Amino acid sequence: MNKLALAFTAVLALISTNVFALGNAASGQEKIETCTGCHGPQGNAIVPIYPKLAGQSEGYLLKQLRDFKSGARKDGIMLGMVAPLSDADMANIAAYYAAQTVTKGVTTKDDAVFVLGQKIYRGGRKHLPDHRQVTACIACHGPKGKGIPTAGFPSLASQNAAYTAKQLKAFRQDALNAQTGATAHVRTNDYESMMRRVAKNLTNEEINAVSQYIFGLN
Ligand code: HEC
Ligand code: HEC
Repeated sequence: MNKLALAFTAVLALISTNVFALGNAASGQEKIETCTGCHGPQGNAIVPIYPKLAGQSEGYLLKQLRDFKSGARKDGIMLGMVAPLSDADMANIAAYYAAQTVTKGVTTKDDAVFVLGQKIYRGGRKHLPDHRQVTACIACHGPKGKGIPTAGFPSLASQNAAYTAKQLKAFRQDALNAQTGATAHVRTNDYESMMRRVAKNLTNEEINAVSQYIFGLN
């Protein structure tokens, strides 16, 4: 994607994620009792299959909650969780988690997994023909994985690796289903297929490595 197209897309994503919907963090805190079991104290999930929510951008969190509710992002557990919440509740909860501090992930540096993860994150995969290329994660998620909240690019820094890998596989699965006629679980709520286009060419080994790298990125 050239720079102009990227900037234009960013503006559209800004409108679509409604980042200016500022919720009330104190009211949000009153609604998160049921969330703590999986997402941990102050949104720092300890079980790695659950995402950390702490420090994530408010606009992105609100978009995900709305997407679970509308079915744009499918997850049986989260559908049940958002069912009793109003839009104002969701905005307040998003404000609460956005205001928390994410606990830092630590990963082994400089082994083969780290080197591969860093290579994909910073450089993508460029040496292959067009249809096998992967855009560098750094372009949208930033050098320290903090994302670009105003553009709808979420923070990835210190995110649990098992959760990240699960999401990358779910984005990738959309292309696999189209190729094979399978109907496996997919994630398709990414604006303009941005993540599906990135993930469709990643191998399992690369997904594992980049997820480990992201956990240690902070
Ligand atoms: C029983 C466990 C469980 C509970 C309780 C739970 N969640 Fe979740 N949550 C999950 C799982 C699993 C996912 C990942 C779903 C997927 O793979 O797409 C998730 C994903 C999310 C996401 C998306 C995060 C991201 O980075 O995209 C948000 C936001 C979220 N939950 C908020 C909440 C809130 C708010 C509550 C309480 C009202 C809650 N959750 C309660 C299991 C839970
Ligand atoms: C062109 C911009 C762009 C590029 C390049 C990109 N991403 Fe993303 N990414 C996004 C957007 C936008 C979303 C949010 C989708 C949504 O709204 O649900 C996202 C979401 C994600 C998520 C889900 C986060 C969560 O909390 O559930 C993961 C994981 C992720 N990206 C990893 C990566 C990795 C790894 C790479 C590099 C291999 C990458 N991204 C490259 C734009 C990008």
